[in-house]
Amino acid sequence: MPGLSKTFERVLAARLNRRDAMKLMTATGAAIGWSRSLAGSVVGSGSVPESHRSRFAFEEISHGVSDTHAIAPGYDADVLIRWGDAVLPGAPEFDLYRQTPESQEKQFGYNNDHIGYLPLRPHESRRGLLCVNHEYANPELMFPRRELTSGTVEIEQSAVGCSIIEVTREEGRWRIVKDSVYARRISGRTTPISFSGPAAGSDRLRTREDPAGTTVVGTISNCGGGVTPWGTCLVAEENFNMYFLGRHDIRHKEARNHFRYRISSQNKYLSWYRFFERWDANKILNEANRFGWIVEVDPYDASSTPVKRTALGRLCHEGAASRINGDGRAVLYMADDNIFEYLYRFVSANKFDALKRDNNFSLLDEGTLSVARFADDGSLRWIPLLYGMGDVNESNGFYSQADVMIEARAAADLVGATPMDRPEGIAVNPKTSSVFVALSNNNVRKTDQTDAVNSRANNIWGQIVELVPPDGNHTADVFGWEMLVQCGPPHQATAEATWNAATSEHGWFAAPDNCVFDRMGGLWVCTDQSSRWKESSGTADGLWAMETEGPLRATGKMFFRVPVGAELTGPAFTPDNESLFLSVQHPGTDGVQHYEAFGRRSTFGDPATRWPDFDPRMPPRPAVVAVTKQGGGIIGS
Ligand code: FEO
Ligand code: CA
Ligand code: CA
Repeated sequence: MPGLSKTFERVLAARLNRRDAMKLMTATGAAIGWSRSLAGSVVGSGSVPESHRSRFAFEEISHGVSDTHAIAPGYDADVLIRWGDAVLPGAPEFDLYRQTPESQEKQFGYNNDHIGYLPLRPHESRRGLLCVNHEYANPELMFPRRELTSGTVEIEQSAVGCSIIEVTREEGRWRIVKDSVYARRISGRTTPISFSGPAAGSDRLRTREDPAGTTVVGTISNCGGGVTPWGTCLVAEENFNMYFLGRHDIRHKEARNHFRYRISSQNKYLSWYRFFERWDANKILNEANRFGWIVEVDPYDASSTPVKRTALGRLCHEGAASRINGDGRAVLYMADDNIFEYLYRFVSANKFDALKRDNNFSLLDEGTLSVARFADDGSLRWIPLLYGMGDVNESNGFYSQADVMIEARAAADLVGATPMDRPEGIAVNPKTSSVFVALSNNNVRKTDQTDAVNSRANNIWGQIVELVPPDGNHTADVFGWEMLVQCGPPHQATAEATWNAATSEHGWFAAPDNCVFDRMGGLWVCTDQSSRWKESSGTADGLWAMETEGPLRATGKMFFRVPVGAELTGPAFTPDNESLFLSVQHPGTDGVQHYEAFGRRSTFGDPATRWPDFDPRMPPRPAVVAVTKQGGGIIGS
């Protein structure tokens, strides 16, 4: 197997290089203790070799928790848009006490997550579109009255989906272009979305409202995603299962499916079914099959119909990072964010057309979906999920490729995929072609369930893994893999964290989630420790810059910190890397009872923070911030 041995050579060479580098750092005194950061101490120092200087020259901020955000000195983080701000022309002024589903459909949704920046001209960095996902609602902070009604549930349904806004940078500041022809709200309540690919029209997608199984109203749980090389946004439907009521003691034709996708009576957001029957999976078996897909949206055409691409498998989708391979085929890496779930890759059957954009709109409909099986020797194999191949056949309840896509998890179980510690964000290094996958945590993994890539039991810290396509060939059957870092506290030996010793006391983090590369090859990682931030790291979530190559590989550096109770998502650079858009999601919610200055759960009238406006009449509002360097320049430089 020539591909495999070549991969091994590269991985081995990389490992040796890094070991040598660490030796060298120890020799120069750089790897001693961590009261001094190499990254900080070498900048401008003539005595340190160029290769040992951090690419990130910004002044690091400290770990901490407070009611507001923090950013590296010399940078601005301006609030660009908040929950309730106008998106569509004619949007009513945000009024907490008169909110309706109809007004919410014209306003920026709740819990903004993935951001795609799409320039309005090639490489344009001062005017573009932002496609922003809205993952879920926090009714306890959105509504003055605690009692849920069909009206508040409909507002929630209108507050998820995504928003497309036009933004422009003038005199250094970003602002929204009002009444833009591109402005759009896609919601969980009203937007018609079509199905394409192998499961479109399947009898398992058909309902009374959609007897053909080709169109669904709404997209929900819009978490991570990606931007394609042909300028569309991929919107990941993540925890869709949490909205559907299920029962595992009833035998019906979707029983295995509902069990495998955790559709149960114990889920978190089970208020919708009380008012709307479609969310009761006991009554309407197929409705849950119409969620859990990647939705492709063309932000340049506000009248276009978004498409759920069933060839990409039904999962709790998070990351969706794409590349055009050397042979012209499109490759998409995808994560299924649940404990013990898998990592996937799709390779298109047809080739990317650089000249005719429309020809690419069907690329994600035909191709091969594979799942990753990691070996402890540093290799990983992509195993195709194909009807009729191996045990994926009638004897296991698969009667077509549509079935394989609808129950992709069950098919992946059969081919021996590696259960991971919650795969989330994925980013491809533009300089090396390596693919980096953030695994956020898995606190139920037991010691006898560990392997080389998920090596820690009770892993509350997560890790980042590098996948190495042989010779940059993203379609190869066998890749190499290598740990970038096992996250967590470097000073706690039992945590088995593997940071570069040059990482400062603020440069380490836990629970990596969304991540993105800048164009120079620097990795930027957001964290989501959820309500466990206190035990995972003791700091609020934020954004860290990471080295992935050379002697400083696996050195982190803290750049941005969220207000208490929030997670950070969505990092998106403009092409010139002089602006960075960040999503501050659910401020004032997660684990605020562990915040000493507050010490209780947030409510509408008594929240842990009123970020970003600190208006005493206003609860906290999820918002997108635009980060720029004062006086101009590349972010992080
Ligand atoms: Fe919605 Fe996996 O974070
Ligand atoms: Ca996420
Ligand atoms: Ca997450």
